Amino acid sequence: MINGISRFSFPTMVSFGPGAIKLLPENLVEVNIKCPLIVTDPGLLQTNAFKTIEAVLKTADIPFGVFSGIQPNPLDEDIEKAMAIYTTKGCDGVIGLGGGSALDSAKVIPVLVKNGGKIKDYNCSTGGNQKIQGPLPRVIAIPTTAGTGSEVGRCSVISSASNGSKYMICHPLMMPALAVLDPELTVSLPDFLTASTGMDALTHCVESLTAPVFHPMCDGIALKGIELVVDNLEKAVKNPGDISARGYMLIAAMMGAVAFQKDLGAAHSLSHALSSVCGLQHGLANAICLIPVMKYNIEISANEYAKVAGVFHINTFEMTDIQAAKKAIQAIADLNSKIGITGSLKDVGVKEDQLEEISVKAFADPCHQTNSRPCTKKDLLDILKKAF
Ligand SMILES: [Fe+2]
Repeated sequence: MINGISRFSFPTMVSFGPGAIKLLPENLVEVNIKCPLIVTDPGLLQTNAFKTIEAVLKTADIPFGVFSGIQPNPLDEDIEKAMAIYTTKGCDGVIGLGGGSALDSAKVIPVLVKNGGKIKDYNCSTGGNQKIQGPLPRVIAIPTTAGTGSEVGRCSVISSASNGSKYMICHPLMMPALAVLDPELTVSLPDFLTASTGMDALTHCVESLTAPVFHPMCDGIALKGIELVVDNLEKAVKNPGDISARGYMLIAAMMGAVAFQKDLGAAHSLSHALSSVCGLQHGLANAICLIPVMKYNIEISANEYAKVAGVFHINTFEMTDIQAAKKAIQAIADLNSKIGITGSLKDVGVKEDQLEEISVKAFADPCHQTNSRPCTKKDLLDILKKAF
C-alpha cells in the first residue's frame, strides 16, 4: 500500500566471484585506503581467508594493522581497543574480515575515529545516530559467512561490556565503500555455521518481505533472496566445496541485508534476546523462532507467505493464501531439518525459567515494531513457549 513519501537507496559497490580477494590491492586504491586496519576474530587468524589477505597485502607492499580481538557478540570495549592499534599504525581505513561480529565492529571504528567518544554515545535508541558526522574513514567488508549481510548494511549490533545488553549504531555513512564476496573464503565454514547463518539470511528475507513498510524494491529482492537460499543452502551444507552454492548463498545473504533496510520482525527481537540472555547463536535462534513467528503472523501475512511457497517451488494452484502459507511454513521447517537444525529452544540449552526474561528483552528490542502483526510482551512469551 502506498502511504506517504519513502526514500530508497542501494549504494554499496560489490566485487563478487571466486578469487575476488586477489583484487584487494586495486580495491584499496579504488576507495583511497593506504594503510588498512584488518578487524577480525581470533579464530580467523589461522584460516586461509586471513592468510590469503595477509599474503596479498604483503606482496603488494601495502602496510596494515591487525586487530583480532572481536568476540561473537562484539563488546564495545573491545572495539575501542582496536582504536589504539588504528592510531598507532597510522591507519586510514578499515578492512572487516569475518562474520557479522567482525563486520559490525569494523563499521563502528570509523565513527569513533571521526567523532571521538565512546561507542555507546552513538546508540540509535537514545538518538546517538544524530551525533555521527562524516566524512568517515572508508571500510572494505569481506564476509566469511553467508548470513548477516552486514557488508551492505548501515547498522552494527554491539553488546555493552558493562551490562551485556545489545544496542544498535546506525547511520547511512556506516555502509562499507566496497563488499568483497569471494565464495572461496567460505568453503571452510563448519556445517553448523553454514546452516545457521544461512537461516539468518532466510529470516532477513522473510521478515523484510512481510514488514508493513512500502518498499517494493526490497520485496522483490527478498523473494529472490529466499529463492537462492531454497536452491543453495542445503547444497552448501552437504557439499561445503560447492563454489556455486557458496557463491549464491553469499548473494542471498547480501540480498537479505539489502531487503531488511525495509525492516525486520519478531523473530529478530526474540533472537537478539536469546543471544543476550543465553548466548544462543543468532542464526540458530532465528531458525528456531521463525516458524512460530510465521504461525503467529499467518492471517495477516498469508499473501506474502503464499509467495514464499512459490519460491519453494510448491504448486499452490487452487490453494487459498492461507493454505499456501501453511505449505511455506512447513517448507521452512523441512529445510531446517535437512540442514541439521532439528531441536527446540529447550534442546539447544535454553531454560524454561529464562523465557520470561527473554520476552522482556525481546519486547524492548525495536525489531518487532515492524512485525506484520503487532506483538505484546505476552505474545512474545507465547511464541517463545511454542519454540521451547
Ligand atoms: Fe539477523
